[in-house]
Order: sequence, then structure tokens, then C-alpha cells
Amino acid sequence: MNVADRATAGFRQRYGAEPAGRWAAPGRVNLIGEHTDYNDGFVLPFALPLRTVVAAAPARDGHWTVWSELDDEPVDFGPADADEPGRVDGWAAYVAGVVWALRADGHDVPGARLAVASDVPVGSGLSSSAAIESAVLAALVDLGGLDLPTGRWPRLAQRAENDYVGAPTGIMDQSAVIRGRAGHALFLDCRTEEVEQIPFDLDGAGLAVLVIDSRAPHRHADGEYAARRKSCERAAATLGVTALRDVDVADLDAALARLDDDETRRRVRHVVTENQRVLDTVALLRAGRVRDTGPLLTASHASMRDDFEITVPEIDTAVEAALAAGAYGARMTGGGFGGCVLALVDAGSADAVAAAVTDAYARNGLTAPGTLTVLPAGGVTRLD
Ligand code: GLA
Repeated sequence: MNVADRATAGFRQRYGAEPAGRWAAPGRVNLIGEHTDYNDGFVLPFALPLRTVVAAAPARDGHWTVWSELDDEPVDFGPADADEPGRVDGWAAYVAGVVWALRADGHDVPGARLAVASDVPVGSGLSSSAAIESAVLAALVDLGGLDLPTGRWPRLAQRAENDYVGAPTGIMDQSAVIRGRAGHALFLDCRTEEVEQIPFDLDGAGLAVLVIDSRAPHRHADGEYAARRKSCERAAATLGVTALRDVDVADLDAALARLDDDETRRRVRHVVTENQRVLDTVALLRAGRVRDTGPLLTASHASMRDDFEITVPEIDTAVEAALAAGAYGARMTGGGFGGCVLALVDAGSADAVAAAVTDAYARNGLTAPGTLTVLPAGGVTRLD
């Protein structure tokens, strides 16, 4: 059964009624621009064809009841739980967080019954959390007839995650999931939230993006993410700028000379050079030179591995094996410490590269990776 039908079937079975509608939101990968979003910088993600679907209908009791195929038991919460961050936890916190963010923004959020089904794997760094937040947000906005232009959705969904769930993430994931467009990568300025849809015609170039799920368990990902963010903010303060976005690559050496420890210097170098790599990638894509972006992807990986120190051996193994098998470029995508790698490959050699990575894993005694070729898909939408 496809994901939309699973959401409907779950809704019927759980609530004995028909949903009023179904809303779908995708996962995402980030082509390039990692740990730049919370530094007010640039990112270039795209939405995936894997989606989370929410079937929903209004509930007169003013409560929210959520069932997910991940869990037998539905979670029920009322306004008092939604108004106090932390009261709802686990996967349902992303739902309660959206209700919280909407209420905090002054909206009269309708009670609802929801059923969630998803093809976005959880814990793989493909933003299953942004997908559920965005699908639920779309459902509640429609069911309640709320006056909330889509341009404001990413910030609101991010607030759900930052302030209710308690993860200090940036605005990239929600932006990609909400604003993504088929056949395009989303060039986002995280300071101004201005976006440009950049044509990313893999098919036309005879290329494919292979996504490799490292299956590495996320080790200390939350604490390390928060530590990276703090270290960037401290460095910006030392340098007297609002955010590391304000350090131009041409001024990097001078900026590094003003920092007194090597670790901070490496963190700053990653962010500043990564912002420039996003701009360079966008310039190449605008010129139709998709294949030539490969070296920038690989350079981004080296920077995450050596300077930002957010990769793990499984991830580095996947990147090295993909490159050795002929990928034009490869890098970890997402927050780090596990998750996925993406590789830019000839469409005709995607299977061979996937097999080479799987072999390398076996030789190193690692759990077999997951592999999938993807094209940029559209963002959140109402299905019916
Ligand atoms: C996670 C966060 C994003 C971003 C990336 C790293 O995906 O949710 O906001 O910071 O890590 O680029």
C-alpha cells in the first residue's frame, strides 16, 4: 500500500470515519551548505520523492489525537499540553510543537484527529521531523482556515522544533520541505529567507544523485550539534560580527589570525569556505554545468571531516568508496555523526557505485548501507 493509502487506512481503522483531507510533505537532502543555516549563511537543499502523509479531520472536543504507523497507541493532548513545551514527547512532540507554535503566533488552532504514515526513514538525517511538522502544519492551517501565508511556514515549523522539541536547528530543513520544487534545488539565504529556485536537471545531464544511508547510529548527535552551534556563535562574537556569514572568504586569513585556538579556527574555516562553495555551486548550476559541481561536493566533505569534525568512519567509507567507483563528487548531507551521503554519478553507473559502496562496507565489517537514487521533488502539498 502506498504511503497516502496507509494514512487513510490508519485514519479509518483508528477513528472509524473518513478523513477530511490528506496533506503530504517530503524529506530532503542538502546538496551543499552544511551547518551554514544557523550562521545566517547559504544552503542548497532539495526535496525528496519520499513523503510523509497526514490524513486529518477536525475534532469538536478541541483536543488533538495523533496516530502514527510507527506506534500502535495514539497520543492525545489538549491545549494545556500544547502550551507547555516538553509535556508531549517522542514523535508526537513534533505535532504538539506545531500546535504550540501556531497558538503562540496567535492562531485559533482547530482540534483534530490525525493519522500519519511515512516513507521518510526516521533517524537517517533526511528530515523526517521537518516532514511531519510541515504536513501537520498544512493540515491545521487548512482545517482551521488560518490566515498564515506559506512564506511564514518555515519559521513557524522551525520554532516548533527549537522551542517545543528543544533541538537548536536552523531553518534549512523546513524551508526545503515547504518550499522545494520538482527539478530544482532551493538556494536559500538563511538571513533574509530569500529563495531562488535553481534548475537542477540531473536527467538532462545524464546524471543521478545516489543517496547512501550509512546506517551509522547517531552518536551524541544532539550534544555535538549544539556544541558546534555555540562555538560558531562565540567565534562571531570574538570577531565582532553578527554571524559567521559576515566573514568573507577573502578576509578569512585575517579573521583566523584573530582567534586564539585551533579548534575554533577550523570551525570558522569550515563555515566561511562552505558558504563560498554554495555560491560557487549555484554559479555552476546556473551555467548548466551540473557535473562540474562534483569537486565542490567533495571539498565540502573534506571540510566537514577535517575542520568541522562531524563525520564518522561509516560516512567517510561511503564517500571514499563512491569516489573510487567513479562518482564526480560525494559528501555527507545533513547534521552529521551518521545519516546519509550523497554522490553525484552518471545515471548509468548509479547501481555500480551503490554496489561498490556496499562491498566496501562488507570489507570493513559494517552493517550494509541503504541506497537510493533520487530526483528533486516538490514541497508540502494538499493531496485531496
Ligand atoms: C540539521 C539541522 C539543519 C542544519 C543541518 C546542518 O539538518 O536541522 O538546520 O543545521 O543539520 O546543515
